[in-house]
Amino acid sequence: MVLSRRRFLTLAGGGTILAATAASAGFLNTRTPQRALAPWQLAGSYADPRKNALSFALLAPNPHNLQPWLVELQGDDTVLLWHDTDRRLPETDPFDRQLTIGFGCFLEQLVLAAGAAGYSVQTEPFPENENGPVARAVFTPGGIADPLAEHILNRRSCKEPFEDRDLPADAVQALESHAVILTDADQVAAIRSITWDAWVTEMQTPRTLKESVDLMRFGKSEINADPDGIDLGGPFLETLMLAGLISRSVQADPDSRGFQEGVRIYDEMLHATPAYAVLKSAGNTRADQVRAGREWLRLNLRCTALGLALHPVSQCLQEFPEMAEQYTRIHDLLAEEGETVQMLGRLGYGPEVAQSPRWPLEAKLLNG
Ligand SMILES: Cc1cc2nc3c(=O)[nH]c(=O)nc-3n(C[C@H](O)[C@H](O)[C@H](O)COP(=O)(O)O)c2cc1C
Repeated sequence: MVLSRRRFLTLAGGGTILAATAASAGFLNTRTPQRALAPWQLAGSYADPRKNALSFALLAPNPHNLQPWLVELQGDDTVLLWHDTDRRLPETDPFDRQLTIGFGCFLEQLVLAAGAAGYSVQTEPFPENENGPVARAVFTPGGIADPLAEHILNRRSCKEPFEDRDLPADAVQALESHAVILTDADQVAAIRSITWDAWVTEMQTPRTLKESVDLMRFGKSEINADPDGIDLGGPFLETLMLAGLISRSVQADPDSRGFQEGVRIYDEMLHATPAYAVLKSAGNTRADQVRAGREWLRLNLRCTALGLALHPVSQCLQEFPEMAEQYTRIHDLLAEEGETVQMLGRLGYGPEVAQSPRWPLEAKLLNG
């Protein structure tokens, strides 16, 4: 679970623990994991147009921020995108469906960034077979800039409570070109209840809980060393780590006070949701999943442009046996017979949130 600085203040009882344990103001001021955030600064600084577009693509949203991509440069105009199969979520995403959606987000961001730099990109998902590259992308000069590209650096997944405020009709209409937007109070309440039950199911299933806890990065040095997964950082969280209120063992222990507080915080967050965005597909092929990812990225950028926050809530879409009841409930509510709900997201007005860590492009290049 990801606990924000503001919300953990409640847990910490205000500034008491902060005052008691913070080593110094210097300590507090130096907790930003600069190295892990450097790729946000480096985006757009490469001479090779492929690397330049890739430097934006790697900022795409992706499940648990696993960044499972590897990139091969071919000739002088082609990129082959590979799945680093050491990076999987076997418990919560056993069929790599969500990871494939993340690759779709990556590809769309690649195409948008290339377009903004004057290149058009022809993409072909899974050009060989499902065990080959995830996509081939061929660059040619002469792209058209899509205004959505302007929002790449400001896009976030906003894992915070949203304001109790209706979405304006024109914003809903704009978003409806990307996804089904649900604002009806009864329907929203029904979805909230499913997302909550699903989140509790994931937390109460030991192996799915462990999958998340194993991916947690505690504090600046862990985040800088492994700039992926679930990053728990910043001065407040690090102070709580020093006080022993947050640790890998606390987060893994459903009986601990820290874990229970996390449950309360997630309850508050998931229920502070005035609307949802839904992406469905008639089939559920790899191509459908990539397409859903591409559209999710566009939706996320359009939300950014409109000043709205978007937060994927995927637990009820996960395909492990203990989740079957919630999977069926959400599909009964949102999908026709045979359709797959590929993405479900909370939608509303949220606070500004920080960038999340990324591996630099150089760590993901197989050559060049
Ligand atoms: C397919 C997919 C599923 C996701 N599911 C969740 C989720 O269930 N809960 C959540 O908090 N974030 C979810 N995310 C968001 C990622 O955690 C997020 O993209 C990643 O941490 C990087 O952060 P950023 O999007 O702010 O750059 C999902 C993202 C994708 C692409």
